[in-house]
Amino acid sequence: MTTLDRSFSNRAAATGDQAVLLRNLWYYALPAHQLKPGTMLAKSLLGEPVLLARSRTGKVFALRDICPHRAVPLSCGRFDGQEVECCYHGWRFDSTGRCTAIPSLTDDQDLDLSRFRVQQYPLREVQGNLWIYMGDGTKDQSPDEAEIPVVPSFGNQPHQLVITAHFPCSIDHAVVGLMDPAHSPFVHRAWWWRSGKTQEEVKTFDPSPYGFTMRRHKIENMGHGYRLLGGIPETEIAFRLPGVRIEHISTGQHTVCNLTTVTPLSETETEVTTSFYWTTPWLTALKPVLKPLVQAFLNQDRDVVAKQQVGLKHNPGLMLIRDADTQARWYYQLKAEFLRATAEGRPFVNPVKEQVLRWRG
Ligand code: FES
Ligand SMILES: [Fe+2]
Repeated sequence: MTTLDRSFSNRAAATGDQAVLLRNLWYYALPAHQLKPGTMLAKSLLGEPVLLARSRTGKVFALRDICPHRAVPLSCGRFDGQEVECCYHGWRFDSTGRCTAIPSLTDDQDLDLSRFRVQQYPLREVQGNLWIYMGDGTKDQSPDEAEIPVVPSFGNQPHQLVITAHFPCSIDHAVVGLMDPAHSPFVHRAWWWRSGKTQEEVKTFDPSPYGFTMRRHKIENMGHGYRLLGGIPETEIAFRLPGVRIEHISTGQHTVCNLTTVTPLSETETEVTTSFYWTTPWLTALKPVLKPLVQAFLNQDRDVVAKQQVGLKHNPGLMLIRDADTQARWYYQLKAEFLRATAEGRPFVNPVKEQVLRWRG
């Protein structure tokens, strides 16, 4: 075991399945179409109650879902397409979180309403997705929008297909499970994907912003899913903090991109969303068939981490073994560096170096 392997074991043993949740990053909040104009919905993100809303004119915003008067969730109230009204005493708040009305005040009771505010979260709509910035309350709340992950080749086009699954585990186990190259032959056994046989893989990785990228290469041992694209596709897979994976597959003629995001709802509950972008019109026609297949695939990942929870309850030490677990090791190193850089108030220095990894998967 290396020092890092050991420290991972100790961390896991000390905390069970609870992850440190990184702040000052953009997190995937919701597929944009799920928030209709003039509606609001409540969601737990990183353990915080958040109200997500879209005005009648289409503008999205997010507020802390707690009324500053007496703590009733604002999402229990009404939204007129412009302002949110608390269900308890009718205080009203605009999209910036500013209080605009306190109905109990008499005409001669002068009160500066701007003293009462609900925290606003930066929320942006990009490529059919809503991204929310979860600050730490100390930094200014005008984060760099250039850091919102973007799927290449698709401009501001929305995704064609999006599937979500709820993982009963911390963000760490969800991320490590999804990027783990050794589980596929065992967890994803399906005729349309892969056989149960393992094969040797050799891949080159490079550091990339807040993460690493599996260098573009030809997909040689294609599963049936890839075969549908025709030609020999090339793929590149980028991972970045907090838990965003973008796969870019192209055959020269066609491009398919997959964005998979891992968002902690709390320390022990995680939401995984996988969305697809493509230029192939016939894939659009196949959507009714693809949807249940993708859901089944994601559910296989969910089911295995649900089983893992049974063992994790007993706080066992865990292992990261050789190249197959190197991406998981990098994930923990990236997280540790992000925390150190934030604490020291200095720029993030990517700990990943160019490396060739070999495994059977
Ligand atoms: S608790 Fe919201 S208005 Fe009183
Ligand atoms: Fe998987």
